[in-house]
Amino acid sequence: MILRSVKQAKVKGKRILLRVDFNVPMEKGKVTDDFRIERTWPTVDLLRKRGAKIILISHLSAGRAKSLRPVADFLSKRRKVDFSRELFGPETEKKISNLKNGGILLLENLRSDEGEEKNSLTFAKRLAKLGDVYVNDAFSASHRKHASIVRLPRMMPSFAGLLFENEVKNLRTAFNPPHPFLLVLGGVKFGTKLGVLKKFIKISDSIFIGGALANNFFKEEGFDIGESIYDQKTDIKKYLNNKKIILPVDVRTKHGAILDCGPNTLAMLKKIIAKSKFVLWNGPLGDFEMKGFEKGTEGLAKIIASSRSKSIVGGGDTVAAIRKLGILNKFSFVSTGGGAMLEFLSKGSLPGIEALEKSERRLSAKKL
Ligand code: 3PG
Repeated sequence: MILRSVKQAKVKGKRILLRVDFNVPMEKGKVTDDFRIERTWPTVDLLRKRGAKIILISHLSAGRAKSLRPVADFLSKRRKVDFSRELFGPETEKKISNLKNGGILLLENLRSDEGEEKNSLTFAKRLAKLGDVYVNDAFSASHRKHASIVRLPRMMPSFAGLLFENEVKNLRTAFNPPHPFLLVLGGVKFGTKLGVLKKFIKISDSIFIGGALANNFFKEEGFDIGESIYDQKTDIKKYLNNKKIILPVDVRTKHGAILDCGPNTLAMLKKIIAKSKFVLWNGPLGDFEMKGFEKGTEGLAKIIASSRSKSIVGGGDTVAAIRKLGILNKFSFVSTGGGAMLEFLSKGSLPGIEALEKSERRLSAKKL
């Protein structure tokens, strides 16, 4: 199924509700990582150049911050973007009615109203009234069955943004990849990666399991993993003797806890990657924020970056670690998705994609 692209939308003079994911890292009220914002900007620019009135809507995770003010401050230093300190109300209404063609307004955090996460119809109706057309460019939030992701596309003419299309197009290549194909899974929560392992054990030629995920295997194999973190809720027994699965051959430890893989593991990965035509990677190989334990993650990033293999990488921590090295552009595709990337890879779709597809079907039926 091909999603209806924002490129096809007639937007001049129209109010566009553009769902973005500006749920970005912040410290002391300041944006510290603008990766997602930059990746979204081509859609904003396209709409701006075509004379749309752009209303940006985004959420923030509960643990991050309550207000999108830091994002608004960040944006206004670089671009002409206005901010409404509320989601609904007189300020929002006034600012929307004053929007000129090409103007951009950011509204306050969608999750400031409980209707967003509760997927409330009343909430969605209020949102829908603010615009004429809906565009989803928040691929990284499209695994959430929230009102702005799954309800709005049922209520308004709807389109996928450029980033959204790009994510779907690139991540889909993993289902029909060039071979040999290596999948690398790292990080901590095995529960969130099990679906990907299950799906790709058939598609890939080998799967390297690193980070704390490897501790589940070590423990199951009967090794003493001391104080190492592992996911107690996840049962990996059925993958224990699978020939496709590769584990670290050496590790770096501190106070009895495994915190990274060692140099022999990197040397082994280098050999595999030299022969691979495609590498898909999600999750760091070690506790990369702790000095001395970033070597696995950074080493792997450099190996992939200097290889000839097609490469797709994603996950907040993994991308942050690679970004620090300044080599993100050496990867064929970098996903803005964390949980969304994993869910898309394991299920082949997302609630946000299905909602756009349904809206497309409704429109085609009307045309007939
Ligand atoms: C993310 O960062 O993965 C998305 O923005 C979704 O955020 P959430 O986990 O708070 O729903």
